[in-house]
Amino acid sequence: MTEERLIDKIIDVSLRRGFICPTAEIYGGSGGFYDYGPLGTLLKQKIIDYWRQNFVLDTDNIFEVSGSLLMPESVFQASGHLDAFDDPLIQCNVCNSMFRTDLLIKEAANISAEGLSIEEQDKLIQEHNVKCPKCKEDLGKSRNFNLMFKTEIGPSGGYAGYLRPETAQNIFINFKRLTAFMRNKLPFGIAQTGYSFRNEISPRNFIIRLRQFEQMEIEMFFDPDAEEASSPFEIAEDLKINFVTHEMQEKGWEKPLSLSLQEVKQQNLVPNDYLLYFFALETEMLIDFGVKQEDFWFRHMLPHETPHYSGGNFDLEVNLSIGHKEIIGNAYRRDYDLKKHSKASNSSFTIAYSDGRKVLPHVVEPSLGVDRILYTVLEKCYRDDDRGWSWFQFPSVIAPLEVAVFPLMKKDGLANLAYEVHRELKNSGYISFYDESGKIGKRYARADEIGIPYCITVDYESLEDSSMTIRDRDSMKQIRIPLEDLDITLGELMDSEVEFEDSEQ
Ligand code: GLY
Repeated sequence: MTEERLIDKIIDVSLRRGFICPTAEIYGGSGGFYDYGPLGTLLKQKIIDYWRQNFVLDTDNIFEVSGSLLMPESVFQASGHLDAFDDPLIQCNVCNSMFRTDLLIKEAANISAEGLSIEEQDKLIQEHNVKCPKCKEDLGKSRNFNLMFKTEIGPSGGYAGYLRPETAQNIFINFKRLTAFMRNKLPFGIAQTGYSFRNEISPRNFIIRLRQFEQMEIEMFFDPDAEEASSPFEIAEDLKINFVTHEMQEKGWEKPLSLSLQEVKQQNLVPNDYLLYFFALETEMLIDFGVKQEDFWFRHMLPHETPHYSGGNFDLEVNLSIGHKEIIGNAYRRDYDLKKHSKASNSSFTIAYSDGRKVLPHVVEPSLGVDRILYTVLEKCYRDDDRGWSWFQFPSVIAPLEVAVFPLMKKDGLANLAYEVHRELKNSGYISFYDESGKIGKRYARADEIGIPYCITVDYESLEDSSMTIRDRDSMKQIRIPLEDLDITLGELMDSEVEFEDSEQ
């Protein structure tokens, strides 16, 4: 009997417990589209909240905006997406099934063909005798397929519009107004989170390759000639990151290098310090989300994989059960986009200094895929080997539900007191869940399965002395604390300020 794949276990619990389900599931689903249920939405919101706090609000010069999802053709003509935002599409000569050429090559010959011309990819298909995965017959020739969703804006064929393929473009096209808001002073960053859309040829791997997905992006604008092109942010120079260079990829690599940010800088492995700053935030974020550092690295993308706008891309890749997947892209977009939009719209995007110098800012972009990060969290926090039921070891900072409150029994006033405790916790800002149905052991198991870090149980002793038990999900141990300490103790536990066993009075 083959063992169930980890991704299938994740999908199973996601469907059963209200994390994620296919869009239009009752009609057979719609490839590449998923809906987030109550727990999936809470988890997603926690990820976004963390990014907003740490990447945006904690800085002085990064502000968040919220732009339109649908924009006129002129935007994407200028940005280059109409001409260059393509994937290679290949069709079977016999059964007419369609595939993404580079993905077929990767699967059949384990060669990365992403970014190679369609002629080069067709040559690899021939050389490696790659056949149609469905009917095993010959494949035709590849053609470029544009990934944007097109529609019409206005009644009776008004004008062409496209769903945005990245959130970034709203920021570039509003650059003049944003610069005025920032008082014409560089550097500054503009952040945005929201949906983007790509008509993927082969959506796959649950929420990893979607046609509608959510991004958290920052466009960090800076003067490439200024002293502080080496970034005004404080950089944790001693922080170690895992890094994969071009040279390692040319020779074949098994393990990434472990380098401090200072070493990355000294060895000139990145074009500017802004990238280092974001590498540090991203590393800390994943560790805070329960991902071990040995499981992810920054890979300097090879020239043929690098997007049309970029002067250097560094993908954060994670070792998942479904292979190495990019979940964050860090791009040095230079002045590519501002130049393109400035020319096409006949607007000046230069910033003038008091000494008369004019500069067209360069930009560094950390682009985080919310769904991919969320899948990574689900996979890396999933446990099923030690307690008779599967559970999620979500760190409190991202746990969708933070605390559950149970009466031991419904009768004798226990339920009333437990419900009161639950409401008080909600009033104090905790995401609390009240559950009075079923045996207490079953309720603990149900709470574990959705990763609730702490369960409070109101029992007969509670009626006498207002004390209650807290159960720690990870150790399954319980301690007793007075009701009046509950709020503070829970806060300390969630912020990891105290060890669980030390919280007992
Ligand atoms: N903004 C970069 C990307 O969406 O890939």
